[in-house]
Amino acid sequence: MILFIDTADLGEIERWLAAGVGDGVTTNPTLLKKAGFKEPVEAWKRIIGLIQKHSGDSLPLSVEVFRDDAEGMVEQATEFVSALGYAGTTVKIPIQATDGSDRLGVIKTLSDSGVAVNCTACMHWFQAFCAAKAGARYVSLLYRRSIDSGLDGLDMIRRTRGLLDEHGLGAEIIAGSIRQAQDVLDVYEAGAHVITVPPQFFPQLLHQQKSVDTQRQFLTDAGVQV
Ligand code: E4P
Repeated sequence: MILFIDTADLGEIERWLAAGVGDGVTTNPTLLKKAGFKEPVEAWKRIIGLIQKHSGDSLPLSVEVFRDDAEGMVEQATEFVSALGYAGTTVKIPIQATDGSDRLGVIKTLSDSGVAVNCTACMHWFQAFCAAKAGARYVSLLYRRSIDSGLDGLDMIRRTRGLLDEHGLGAEIIAGSIRQAQDVLDVYEAGAHVITVPPQFFPQLLHQQKSVDTQRQFLTDAGVQV
């Protein structure tokens, strides 16, 4: 189970990278805004600094374009990749623009030129399948958002995984839009390769009252006051 950290909060990113739990980081414009960043490239550079400090590696960092037109997306993606100069940079390209047109051409152009693309905002297995065929490195299936629109989020993940495996496509599924701790386990069992987790869910997932009680008993029996 590969776990990415879905936030731009530097404190949280540092905490979970230092613990060895985060295998990558995903951001989007909303998360950058929430974390108080006005300059996305500056934010991503600081995240890269934390990745290099704690893993010494090129863990994937997803950075999202904020253009709607196809040409603008390619231009901005190229600009981000070169400004960051970081091997783990993965550019998020939305599957569709605001006028409903797909952005498969953008994914293909960037992938063909060696940019690792994370196709985001997928709500249906067919979108993810086509993005994978266009060359995306990752397809982000937004679990709870798909449920919000009346779709079966787990079925979407299961079918996408089946198609990727059946056709030997190299893309991996990132399950995003996680809103409850249990979602992490459910999307993994449905076939997500990667789950991008809002950091507040890590403590919830880690907590077992019996573990706390056991530690209390052992300390008490060792004569330690707790
Ligand atoms: C991650 O790649 C997505 O942008 C993120 O998980 C969306 O989460 P939300 O639906 O809770 O905003």
